[in-house]
Amino acid sequence: MPFRTLDGVAVAGKRVLLRADLNVPVHDGRISDLTRIERLSPTIRELAEKGAKVIVLSHFDRPKGKRVPEMTLAPMATALAQVLGRKVRFGDDCIGVIAQQTVMNLNDGDVAVLENTRFHAGEETNDPGLAAEMAKLGQIFVNDAFSAAHRAHASTEGVAHLLPSYAGRLMQAELEALQSALTTPQRPVMAIVGGAKVSTKLDLLGNLVAKVDVLVIGGAMANTFLAAEGIAVGASLQEAPMHATARDILAKASAAGCKVVLPVDAVTAAEFKAGAATQTVAIDAVAAHQMILDVGPQTVADITARLAAMKTLVWNGPVGAFETPPFDAATTAIAHAVAAATAAGTLRSVAGGGDTVSALRHAGVLDKLTYVSSAGGAFLEWLEGKTLPGVAALES
Ligand code: 3PG
Ligand code: MG
Repeated sequence: MPFRTLDGVAVAGKRVLLRADLNVPVHDGRISDLTRIERLSPTIRELAEKGAKVIVLSHFDRPKGKRVPEMTLAPMATALAQVLGRKVRFGDDCIGVIAQQTVMNLNDGDVAVLENTRFHAGEETNDPGLAAEMAKLGQIFVNDAFSAAHRAHASTEGVAHLLPSYAGRLMQAELEALQSALTTPQRPVMAIVGGAKVSTKLDLLGNLVAKVDVLVIGGAMANTFLAAEGIAVGASLQEAPMHATARDILAKASAAGCKVVLPVDAVTAAEFKAGAATQTVAIDAVAAHQMILDVGPQTVADITARLAAMKTLVWNGPVGAFETPPFDAATTAIAHAVAAATAAGTLRSVAGGGDTVSALRHAGVLDKLTYVSSAGGAFLEWLEGKTLPGVAALES
């Protein structure tokens, strides 16, 4: 579905309510990763430079409808000011007199961040009254929070129906990247899906087998598929209750003409710890006391050979326990192959999800893919083929 962008929208002198996702990682009270703020900044800069009064709304963490002082957005406003290199005001509430005064004091080109939308219980219930209070603050609504678009909340969905509403530049980039990867992709398309559990990615696998030409399954979830096919996986993590489901997914794939690629060899260890003694074995030779912790070199060669024939790749989830070396080897090797094919211009590569982003960063190729999503849950729901309410509200 086409969505409304900021192209041709007259924002000069207007109060623009901008839904951002300032839900950034914080450790020991400090923001540990500015990626989301950096990727949001072009939209704010564009609006401010065009003379809009920019009023930023966002949630942070999960305060569950109460004011939780540790979950204030004040530090994010400071970080935003640093990234933008311009002054950013802070309003201590996202509705009511405080919010209205903050907005009234803005001149054209000024930026303000209002306090955590989730301090109000009506945010998560998508309360029409709260949405109306928010809508009063602006004349135009811009949603740049793709990563929160799977939530039908007052500040993501409700308010979008009360004001003329548009996708911000980050939202636009995310949607264009995702659409070019799965909705209207250049074929053949490969998906690589990894991670621990089949049970958390059922809908995703079910949707992908109907859309992609090749589905590579890695990570511990591959163990469930292997075991379901009668292969002994030793002491590996797997979900025995999911065997029938795994077989259903394989049958659905074969009916749809989707080639499923499972590991042909594995790196195993008797204990899961950094630097553990490992063995590399064929997939049908995993010893009873051994755990599969990464896919093996033959599997990497198989995946990279197939990758060479692909025009599009969607990647969610590492193929091994990459946080614990040496079980990062396969994920890193595949990441390098993806980066090389992308650089050569033969592959359009789109990846997303928290672990995937960490794995790409670990491999040193985070900026070498065509697009890496800033979203976690929203990226997954999109891969599941679900309608994201925050996006649906921007469709034309
Ligand atoms: C995220 O980081 O996943 C988004 O900001 C949404 O946050 P939530 O999972 O708490 O709704
Ligand atoms: Mg989340």
